[in-house]
Amino acid sequence: MAGKIITIAQQKGGSGKTTVAAHLAVALARLGKSVAILDVDPQGSLGQWYEARERRLEAKRRRSDVKRGRRPPSPGGEA
Ligand SMILES: Nc1ncnc2c1ncn2[C@@H]1O[C@H](COP(=O)(O)OP(=O)(O)OP(=O)(O)O)[C@@H](O)[C@H]1O
Ligand SMILES: [Mg+2]
Repeated sequence: MAGKIITIAQQKGGSGKTTVAAHLAVALARLGKSVAILDVDPQGSLGQWYEARERRLEAKRRRSDVKRGRRPPSPGGEA
């Protein structure tokens, strides 16, 4: 299966490149596509966004598992 490469590039700073890349990646993933995001910007803001999103989703999964009794609450009391 051939993949598609979508490049989001523009010389102007702060024009929304990272925001568009992140939203596009999530939208395509929600449509069932396999998505790989490649952050080639030395600022690494897309990578930071991805890591923050993963942390948030993991915390949400943990809370849901605790609620359903699939795993015990963490010792610190947080879900
Ligand atoms: N459609 C939008 N409406 C309002 N604010 C937006 C929109 N898209 C992006 N922004 C905001 O504009 C700012 C710059 O966006 P972003 O970081 O995506 O730009 P960038 O082109 O990647 O910047 P850089 O050149 O620094 O990498 C951010 O604060 C972002 O939240
Ligand atoms: Mg950017």
